[in-house]
Formats: sequence, C-alpha cells, structure tokens
Amino acid sequence: MWEYTDAVKDHFLNPRNVGELEGANAIGEAGSLNCGDALKIFLKINENERIVDASFMTFGCASAVASSSALTEILKGMTLTDAAKLTNEDISDYLGGLPKAKMHCSVMGQSALKKAIADYRGIQILQKPGEIVCECFEVTDLEIIDAVKTNKLETTDDVTDFLKAGGGCGNCLERIEELIESVKTKG
Ligand code: FES
Repeated sequence: MWEYTDAVKDHFLNPRNVGELEGANAIGEAGSLNCGDALKIFLKINENERIVDASFMTFGCASAVASSSALTEILKGMTLTDAAKLTNEDISDYLGGLPKAKMHCSVMGQSALKKAIADYRGIQILQKPGEIVCECFEVTDLEIIDAVKTNKLETTDDVTDFLKAGGGCGNCLERIEELIESVKTKG
C-alpha cells in the first residue's frame, strides 16, 4: 500500500475542477489509456495571457487524480509564462510529496500542461523531439535525460517511477542505463 500525504488523499477524495470547461481556449492531453493513465486539461486564458480557470478529466490512480486536481488549482490565476515554467516537482510539492513510484503522475500533469500551452499558442506538437527509447510507453531519449537531470535519478527503476519507461517489456533498459551514465559523466 502506498503512503499518501493528507493533501493527496484530500485531492483524490475531493478532486477540484473536474470535467470539461466551458469556454476553454486551450486543451492538452497526456498519457494514453494503453498505459493505464490518461489526462486531459482545459484552460481558459484571458487576453493578458492569464489563466482564469482550469479543469481536468483523468483516467488513472489516486495519484493521477490528486496530481491533476492540484495542477488545476496551482494554475488558476497564473500567467502563461509562469505556467510554462511549472515542473512536476512543483505539483508534487503542492501535495506534500508523492510516493516515488507515482511520480509519473506529476510528470503526466506537466506534459498535458505543455501541450495545452502549445495549443493556445497555435504550435502544433506533431512529433516529440528526440529519439524514442521506450517503445512501450513512447518515451524519448531527451525526456529521459531531462527527467534524470531535473530529478537527480540514479537507476533505471527511478526512470520507470518517473516516466514509466522500462516498465513494460524491458527491452529499453540497457539504453536507459546508458543515458543515466551519460548524464553522470557529462552532467
Ligand atoms: S520498450 Fe521500454 S519497456 Fe518495452
């Protein structure tokens, strides 16, 4: 059984801002039902690029619901410029922390937010930059390097906890290991 903080339990049992948002002018989706977690966030952004309202719909575990609920609360009132700087750690910190094996839920929130901002700005994300390393969960080398650096990940298990990469067939584990090593040596 996972150890959840009171804030995680509260946001799971009483999620804020659930459902489609009428008048939303930015929508971002992350995850996929194939991996068990999926998230869609809706933002209403005013002419000064401030987020005046936010909501979400998710299919996932307690941490996915709590992370999405927390994310929408954090976003309300924020400028798009500040929102673009939000990290998965900010979401986890807002909840007083998430179990390590559940950090991918906060990463999913951050990724849906990035897509919503791109949607608002009219930027089409056709393809993720970088090379796909984990075919099972469509995770690229750049995403792995970024997560390793930002969250100081040390092992392939850490990477699986954060990005799910490596948690399926395991064919990508060797490459993940190499990427971790390259960050350690090159920084
Ligand atoms: S390719 Fe990464 S777990 Fe299957």
